[in-house]
Amino acid sequence: MTEKKDELSAIAAGKIAAIIREKKTVNLGLPTGKTPLLMYQHLIRLTKQDGLDWSSVQCFALDEYLHPSKEHSFQTYLETNLYDHVGVPKANQHNPAMTDNYDQLITEHGGLDLTILGIGLNGHIAFNEPGTPRLSFTQCIWLQETSRKALSSTFGSLEATPKTAVTMGISTILSSQSIVMLAFGLDKKEIVERAFGNGVNPEIPASFLKLHNTVSVLTDCGSAIG
Ligand code: GLP
Repeated sequence: MTEKKDELSAIAAGKIAAIIREKKTVNLGLPTGKTPLLMYQHLIRLTKQDGLDWSSVQCFALDEYLHPSKEHSFQTYLETNLYDHVGVPKANQHNPAMTDNYDQLITEHGGLDLTILGIGLNGHIAFNEPGTPRLSFTQCIWLQETSRKALSSTFGSLEATPKTAVTMGISTILSSQSIVMLAFGLDKKEIVERAFGNGVNPEIPASFLKLHNTVSVLTDCGSAIG
C-alpha cells in the first residue's frame, strides 16, 4: 500500500509539474490533510530537480478553518508543506478565509486549471459536507461531527476542534479545468466506492465529481470505480 501511495502521489505531483511547465500562468486548487503530504514532497523534489518556476503560479487553498490558530491554519500547512520550499510568492497564496469574494478572485485570474482533492470519510470534498447542493460556491460552513472527530487528533481533543470553516463550493470545484482526487488507505475504500460506484448523491458530495469530464481518481484501496 505504501509503495502504491508513493507512486500515485508522484503521478499527481507530475501532473502539477507538467502544467506549470506548459502554461505561462497556472491556477491551482490545493488540498490539505494527510493524503497530499507525499504529493507535496514529490512536488518539492521535482521543483528542485527540474527548476520549476512558481513565480506565475496562483495557489488557491480549497478551504480554511474560521479563526484558526496560526499553528493549525491550512495557510500554515501549505506554507510548511509547499509554499516555503518552492517559492510561491506571498501575493500568489490565496486563502478563502482571507478573501472577501474567493470565486470572483478565481474568475479574475482566469479560473482553476487543476484542482487536487482528498476525500473525507463522509464523502466531503474540501469542506463541502453531505447535503451541500451542487450549486454552491465558496461559503462558511458548520463542520459535521464526523469530520470534527476525524480532525480532532490535530487539535488534541474534540472540544478544541473547530466547528466552522470556509470552503470552495461544489460549483467552484467543478469549474476547474481538470481535477485529481487522491484517496489512500483502506479506510477510504468504502466511501470511494459509494461516491463513484453509484449515481450522483448530494449526501456524498464527492459523487458530484461524476458530473465533471476530466477527473482522475488516484487510489490505492483497489476500489472498483464506475
Ligand atoms: C479535511 C480537508 C479535506 C481533506 C479531508 C481528508 O476535511 N478539508 O480537504 O480531503 O480532510 O483529509 P485526509 O487526507 O487527512 O484524510
